[in-house]
Amino acid sequence: RLGVTVIPTVVHVVFQTPVQNIDDAQVRSQIDVLNRDFRKLNPDVANVPDAFKPLVGDAFIEFRLATRDPLDNPTNGITRTQTTVAAFDTDDSVKHAAQGGADAWPSDRYLNIWVCRLAGGLLGYAQFPGGPRDTDGVVITYTAFGTTGTAAPPFHLGRSATHEVGHWLNLFHIWGDDGTACTGSDQVDDTPNQAGPNFGCPQFPHITCGNAPSGDMFMNYMDYTDDACMFMFTKGQTVRMQAALDGPRASIGT
Ligand code: ARG
Ligand code: ZN
Ligand code: CA
Repeated sequence: RLGVTVIPTVVHVVFQTPVQNIDDAQVRSQIDVLNRDFRKLNPDVANVPDAFKPLVGDAFIEFRLATRDPLDNPTNGITRTQTTVAAFDTDDSVKHAAQGGADAWPSDRYLNIWVCRLAGGLLGYAQFPGGPRDTDGVVITYTAFGTTGTAAPPFHLGRSATHEVGHWLNLFHIWGDDGTACTGSDQVDDTPNQAGPNFGCPQFPHITCGNAPSGDMFMNYMDYTDDACMFMFTKGQTVRMQAALDGPRASIGT
């Protein structure tokens, strides 16, 4: 497809305590990060090592908070739901009003993002294309969402949502989800083979799986490094996301 795809987005804020009820500005700060990261407009892309610079990709995707709700009434694209659930799990209860969460808006027309307190230090999780409609979207914990308010270092630069929306657009983890073996693949040709996830902020180069001299692409959004240390998708990853927009996610966006 040609040009930029705009994805209508709804953010469901599900809160138990007042501090979890993040304000509109924090929500907008996250949308701003997505709009930089998926258009290669993030200033820290300058930190990509020279060896990887030719591989950096522009996904040509923009995110807009919805201006119309599913019933065509005006909206600011943010829903707010008070819950008695102290912390949510990956069981998708945050996606159901009957389980203390908020119901998804039709996932063929909206990207659903739920923000809540996640249990166990989990930053976020996502559903890949092709799954059930009522659970489609991504979930981010309230301390790793956006760049203001409750966003807490080292996950305070909005990259958890960038990572999870990458999954929602069919990207796998860059190390191939094979534990730390060198046998798995993320099905993308221009990401180096890499043993396992990287954490924190590694020093370049970090060699595994015989991937010298440049080593792991640990600054890729689909690794597990800190927010300040991930700042690129590859061209191959953007091709894969565009394929998702032409295929299983074709009904979304304009
Ligand atoms: N699902 C991953 C986790 O919860 C997301 C990692 C996102 N990484 C980041 N630097 N924000 O660990
Ligand atoms: Zn992931
Ligand atoms: Ca691997």
